[in-house]
Amino acid sequence: MRYYIDTADIEEIRQANKRGWVDGVTTNPTLVAQTGKKHHDLIKEICAEVEGPVSAEVISIESEKMLSEGRELAKIASNVVVKIPMIEEGLIAVKRLTAEGIKTNVTLVFSPIQALMAAKAGATMVSPFVGRIDDTGSNGMELVSQIIQVYQNYDFNTDVLVASIRHPMHVLESALMGADIVTMPYKVMKGLTTHPLTDKGLAQFLKDAQKVPQ
Ligand code: G3P
Repeated sequence: MRYYIDTADIEEIRQANKRGWVDGVTTNPTLVAQTGKKHHDLIKEICAEVEGPVSAEVISIESEKMLSEGRELAKIASNVVVKIPMIEEGLIAVKRLTAEGIKTNVTLVFSPIQALMAAKAGATMVSPFVGRIDDTGSNGMELVSQIIQVYQNYDFNTDVLVASIRHPMHVLESALMGADIVTMPYKVMKGLTTHPLTDKGLAQFLKDAQKVPQ
């Protein structure tokens, strides 16, 4: 399973990369705004840090404008993936960008049928937002399971990129379901490494090591 980091913070990307946790990066306008940097400059900086795909989101909602934005973003680096919102105009842009050899990530996906439509338009990846579904009292991971099933039924090549991940169970369930990619904040990544029994066992080993004759 591929791990992407969901951040626009270059220092977080560096730290996660050092630990082997960065197969790619996803950003969104909210994350970009938090940095105070210009979108183009920031994406260039991130692409220089990582070898894998870097999702950069368009901010237009009309297909022709999305196309121009997408083409400009794709020029920044060869690993840019153009992130497009799951709206009808967005799918027009996805189809055209795909035909031009530009990779796309269809975002804000909240139903398996939306994911099917994105795949039919030729999306490289789709991003179901599991945490935001959980927030509404429904089960976000059920959506992921359904998308995987639909894609398997019809041999779609579109990757399932589980997004809006909030905790380790989202990651475990994604892995058990065979999702292609998970994207998560650095804070969630760090939480995946810890276990109280590891800490307890290590403390005991260090204590016992003191008794070993030098
Ligand atoms: O990048 C999209 C997604 O991961 C957002 O997550 O936590 O804002 O719902 P969140």
